[in-house]
Amino acid sequence: EKGGFEHFMLKEIYEQPKSIRDTMTGRVPKDSHGIEFTELGWTEEEMAGINKIFIVACGTAYHAGIVGKYYLEQLARIPVEVDIASEFRYRSPLVDGNSLTIVISQSGETSDTLAALKEAKRLGSRTLAVTNVVGSSISREADQVVYTYAGPEIAVASTKAYTTQLLVMLMLAIYVGRLRGTLDIAKAHKLVEGLHDIPEQIHKLLENVDQIKVFATRYGSSEDAFFLGRSLDYAVALEGALKLKEISYIHAEAYAAGELKHGTLALIVEGVPVIVLATQPDVYDKTVSNLQEVKAREAMVIAIAFEGDDSIAKYADHVIFIPRTDKYLAPLLAVLPLQLLAYYAALTRGCDVDKPRNLAKSVTVE
Ligand code: M6R
Repeated sequence: EKGGFEHFMLKEIYEQPKSIRDTMTGRVPKDSHGIEFTELGWTEEEMAGINKIFIVACGTAYHAGIVGKYYLEQLARIPVEVDIASEFRYRSPLVDGNSLTIVISQSGETSDTLAALKEAKRLGSRTLAVTNVVGSSISREADQVVYTYAGPEIAVASTKAYTTQLLVMLMLAIYVGRLRGTLDIAKAHKLVEGLHDIPEQIHKLLENVDQIKVFATRYGSSEDAFFLGRSLDYAVALEGALKLKEISYIHAEAYAAGELKHGTLALIVEGVPVIVLATQPDVYDKTVSNLQEVKAREAMVIAIAFEGDDSIAKYADHVIFIPRTDKYLAPLLAVLPLQLLAYYAALTRGCDVDKPRNLAKSVTVE
């Protein structure tokens, strides 16, 4: 049942080329400039009536929501708030008939997310569920559903569900951006082309993991780790830290790199592993100067950067290269080394990777 893999988590990490391909099928026509969501069938008029989007979810799905905010705000130019479901449901959110509430849930059964969805509906919002399970409670409650086609995810740690959620959020942003006229054809076309390359690029990354195994063994003995990035890299850093905590029990924190000086730098001492994501061109120089700051404190720095970025090796102890792609697509690739680092660190520490202590796959109680 694990298809020759030692754990479901590893099997699911390796299923990502397929789950991404399946989630694109029928939605990213090869010679088109855009995205098709026949299950949505939204119109320009309908989209003109939406002035705010709320994204609500828990855990990894919440992290996909943070990436979704960047996508929707930058490509479709609609203000987006992202909430943790257990906060949203109790904070009297200012949701109304001109809002769209998107809930993201792999299982479609998370109780806080379901309650948040009901609350958004009660307040008059349109609702859309992004979920992996057909017929789940959340899929039945929402006005509309976009499915991720990750296939069953068994390991408690979410991997392939996350990348398909990122993909759906990006496709949605392209779709809405085209409807609203905020995204031009040429840019949409470039993103669509980039999407077609992603499964093969993931495949390539997953073929070459020896270096990651070595790093994971090395920092598997640390008690703390930090993940830094700016912009979309920060959103991915959050997911990297959660993965590591959840299965290896190493205390991990993600910080927006610019926040370092506001407190966290005090914790950076010799030998502490710091993973720096540096894939976002607009903030690249600033990220690299943060990298130098942690290096100056003798942290053990692993950078995640695009292939061909030769300069970063001067500053980091190690670099994990990911294939080149558009900045919006980078999270789909940059998270893979983080998933693998968490997996191999957990293995080194003898943890029960698929069933981490105290956690359940689906949180159906509050
Ligand atoms: O099924 P859901 O997507 O609603 O689950 C949400 C979280 O419980 C889930 O993502 C959790 O954080 C994972 N164990 C993370 O790997």
